[in-house]
Amino acid sequence: MLADKRILLIIAGGIAAYKCLELIRRLRERGASVRVVMTEAAKEFVTPLAVGALSENRVYSDLFDLTSEHEIGHIRLSREADLLVVAPATANLLAKMANGICDDLASNVLLATDKPVLAAPAMNPRMWAHPATRRNVARLAADGIRFVGPNTGTMAERGEIGAGRMSEPMEILAAIEAHFEAAGEGRPLLGRRVVVTAGPTHEPIDPVRYIANRSSGKQGFALARALAEAGATVTLVSGPVGLPDPADVKVIRVETAREMLAAVEGALPADVAVMAAAVADWRVASEASEKIKKGAGGTPHLDFVENPDILATVGRHSTLRPRLVVGFAAETENLVDNARAKLDKKGADFIVANDVSPETGIMGGDRNTVRIVARDGVTDWPDLPKDEVAVKLVALIAERLG
Ligand code: CTP
Repeated sequence: MLADKRILLIIAGGIAAYKCLELIRRLRERGASVRVVMTEAAKEFVTPLAVGALSENRVYSDLFDLTSEHEIGHIRLSREADLLVVAPATANLLAKMANGICDDLASNVLLATDKPVLAAPAMNPRMWAHPATRRNVARLAADGIRFVGPNTGTMAERGEIGAGRMSEPMEILAAIEAHFEAAGEGRPLLGRRVVVTAGPTHEPIDPVRYIANRSSGKQGFALARALAEAGATVTLVSGPVGLPDPADVKVIRVETAREMLAAVEGALPADVAVMAAAVADWRVASEASEKIKKGAGGTPHLDFVENPDILATVGRHSTLRPRLVVGFAAETENLVDNARAKLDKKGADFIVANDVSPETGIMGGDRNTVRIVARDGVTDWPDLPKDEVAVKLVALIAERLG
């Protein structure tokens, strides 16, 4: 499976760098070509000579070396690969990657690449657990960087135990193989984390009454199923619906918009968010603690307050915005204009817009006619079963993730 695959291995300066020699050997055995970029610090741990001999290629480490005319240049280097593997991914290099800092060849290549990147972190457990590293890793995950490890165990420093050991060469190899398998076997979202919302929300009036809408959850559930079939790790946050849990999907059932928001935030970081729920825009300002009775006070008067906008919260999240944020727009008029306005207002990458006027039968029905409204244009899809809309959406999501 790795035959003829081009791996660009970036070795940063950590004690785990020695494991890369074994990784290179295993990759070469399987027919992959391996080019290696080493940071200056990496050379303190393994020699370019050993790396060059095993990879059967020259080793790159100096940015300015590559600018001369007969060299290939860091842009080409970063793109003439099928996959970039960063091992060990040190705290320092992850911090640079998360912030777009490029002050050496390795970090320049990582910023210039348009190819998938797999990182194998390795560092002291306290560094791994530090809030700064947590932030950087979350940021990178949201940017689409995949991770393998780290493992938990004894560290190189005596007496230190915890999470931070780099994955073993065979584990990294398995992650590399899984990446190519996913790309080649109709599981384009393997390793991707996706959060989906579905169904209506119920906003209580008193202990026995609530405000709801006609959403059945069918489209969101079909989508969660199709995403899982494409290999994604899916968290489905659903309002009250009468649908069974889709296979291989983590389902969190909630009632209110506020509960839905909390569950969605708890499912971040994610690579993709698809907000298909018909969230109630308002809730009753003060829920009665006892059942409201007929009689003395005449007909009850309800005051409303606006619910949090879950899509906008995720789409405009300062640190954990998924790389791809997809919204839905349920409209009964001016479909495209209203969907376009939501695109900007809510920070979505595209909106799946549908006409939910009663005569369409879409809300609660098994079929859907949608228009995909993106900044670069509007695409009309034919009338399809909701399952097929889901499969087409998964293909679109995979394409947009690249
Ligand atoms: N949405 C959300 N949280 C809300 C309201 C809406 O996450 N409180 C999401 C929906 O899941 C959907 C998108 O926002 O992906 C658009 O929902 P829609 O009901 O069409 O739009 P609204 O924002 O409610 O605007 P309006 O009711 O004015 O059309």
